[in-house]
Amino acid sequence: MQYKALYITELDGVFTKEIKHLESQELKPDHVRIKVLFSSLNYKDALSSTGNKGVTRNYPHVPGIDAAGIIEESRSSLFNNSDEVIVTGYDLGMNTDGGFGAFIDVPAHWVVKKPSNLSLKDAMLYGTAGFTAALSVKKIVDHGVKPESGKILVTGATGGVGSIAMGLLSHLGYQVVAVTGKEQLKDQLIQNGACEVLHRDALTQLGAKMLAKPMWIAAVDTVGGDFLASAVKSTDYAGCVTCCGNVASPDLMLNVYPFILRGVTLYGIDSVQCDMTLRTKIWDLLSEEWAITEKFKFVETITLSEIESRIEMMLEGKHSGRTILEHHHEK
Ligand SMILES: NC(=O)c1ccc[n+]([C@@H]2O[C@H](COP(=O)([O-])OP(=O)(O)OC[C@H]3O[C@@H](n4cnc5c(N)ncnc54)[C@H](OP(=O)(O)O)[C@@H]3O)[C@@H](O)[C@H]2O)c1
Repeated sequence: MQYKALYITELDGVFTKEIKHLESQELKPDHVRIKVLFSSLNYKDALSSTGNKGVTRNYPHVPGIDAAGIIEESRSSLFNNSDEVIVTGYDLGMNTDGGFGAFIDVPAHWVVKKPSNLSLKDAMLYGTAGFTAALSVKKIVDHGVKPESGKILVTGATGGVGSIAMGLLSHLGYQVVAVTGKEQLKDQLIQNGACEVLHRDALTQLGAKMLAKPMWIAAVDTVGGDFLASAVKSTDYAGCVTCCGNVASPDLMLNVYPFILRGVTLYGIDSVQCDMTLRTKIWDLLSEEWAITEKFKFVETITLSEIESRIEMMLEGKHSGRTILEHHHEK
């Protein structure tokens, strides 16, 4: 069977993207073949598409760390043909061909049955970004932070993880301070649930001292580097900060004072290897009490031919919100 995919090839260190017809192979035992109806664009896809060996070691390769679709063929007792399913994380789109192809073959244990009150498209409106945002928010809730405890800081607020974290927090009644480099989107951030918008530079200035004035009780950091350090230094007593991303920098220049004088907790967030019990719990929350896709302000649905331009925008830091890829299958 032939299917269309964004195909990345490498020749002498030069990486080329093209839309190509690929041929599916025989399905392996304990694997399922999924007809992908929707995928979504994440920062990792942009890295994989441009030859970042930290994400994808071997090329040719089909990126796409998210996929939602229908089981086309199953060699596992866990799934039957026509089941509606979601795959995010594990090795999808990294060294296993991903959701920027119209079909994927994956181990059955990576696959989540779609909750009945969530559409396949809404599952990808969240995608890895929403799943990671929900993991971050759950850490803050489980830490015991209540809406009345104080404000919550969110960095990279116009990005995928940041905008959904902000939406979830405001849905749960928290007051959110959004940090952005795109001040022209301030009104949209307010509409999306921010009670305050802070320019990136204002946050990094807080990091100049060993410990800053306490400004918030928790933070969802999606960018790393000096932003994460500043977020930790300005978090109030017994608060917490979640760390999931490195778009600004993977480095962390910090001292121990926020931890030993204020009892601040820094939580690492990993959506890739997250265990299936928590994974299912998060998807259930996103489909029920935490369902917010109706409130999403920055959403664009595109076809495969448009994905290259969105990848470029993401790499240039010009991308905002969620980009959903819809595969059109011939009947
Ligand atoms: N740990 C995990 O399991 C996991 C899962 C998903 C994503 N991630 C990581 O989380 C991060 C965010 O992912 P995403 O999908 O939300 O990406 P995204 O949509 O590209 O958003 C990132 C946002 O960060 C801000 N930003 C961009 N460049 C920056 C810079 N140089 N300095 C400071 N801020 C900058 C921008 O927001 P503003 O203009 O509003 O500031 C941008 O919209 C990435 O590093 C990604 O790899 C990790």
